[in-house]
Amino acid sequence: MGSILILNGSPRAPRSNSKRYAHLFSDSCKTPTDYCDITKANHQALCAKVGAYSQLVFVFPLYVDGLPVTLLNFLKDLEKQPPQNKPTVSVLINCGFLEYTQNDLAVEMLALFCRQNGYPFGSVLKIGGGEAILDTPFRFLAARGIRSFARSVERAKYAAFHTTMPLTKSLFLKASARYWTEYGKKYGVSKEEMQTMKIEQG
Ligand SMILES: Cc1cc2nc3c(=O)[nH]c(=O)nc-3n(C[C@H](O)[C@H](O)[C@H](O)COP(=O)(O)O)c2cc1C
Repeated sequence: MGSILILNGSPRAPRSNSKRYAHLFSDSCKTPTDYCDITKANHQALCAKVGAYSQLVFVFPLYVDGLPVTLLNFLKDLEKQPPQNKPTVSVLINCGFLEYTQNDLAVEMLALFCRQNGYPFGSVLKIGGGEAILDTPFRFLAARGIRSFARSVERAKYAAFHTTMPLTKSLFLKASARYWTEYGKKYGVSKEEMQTMKIEQG
């Protein structure tokens, strides 16, 4: 069994960007890693597993400036069923907006969980433009950030890292509007429909 457990807290874990980041993390580690998606059905099993590792890495996206509910619900159960040996918790978070600092609050939420529940807090990697960066020429920046993050976790030399795409806000807005408009078209949804609350009723 590896000594690093990676838990993916994305609500769309099997098809998520977080999964891609988690795999890059595993590839960057010399220490063996184990990877699991958090699902509604596996909280008990994961809670029982966590204590067997010295390092726990949560990989998840920013949702509405906070933690996605998939992760939040798991943390509630972990609080009720704490392991005897508590691993050091590190965080690899990505957000859609260009500014990696959008992730700060969610990182604070997880750090608070750790403080309140007696988990040592480890390293942090905050990725901005996380929906897009892996499919752009700036992929290497994400990969480089993940390598530094992975090294710090393995060596227990904890630190905070961040990365994003080096684009101006206006260029990012233009590129992302074009991307989402094309994406909507694929599913028969117009830009105008995406700009109304009706998008929630689909
Ligand atoms: C419901 C929802 C809420 C989101 N909220 C934010 C947000 O507040 N700020 C942000 O920068 N990105 C936000 N995003 C974008 C995601 O963080 C981004 O698409 C991320 O890459 C998704 O990662 P995943 O594929 O691992 O789930 C949101 C996405 C969704 C679907």
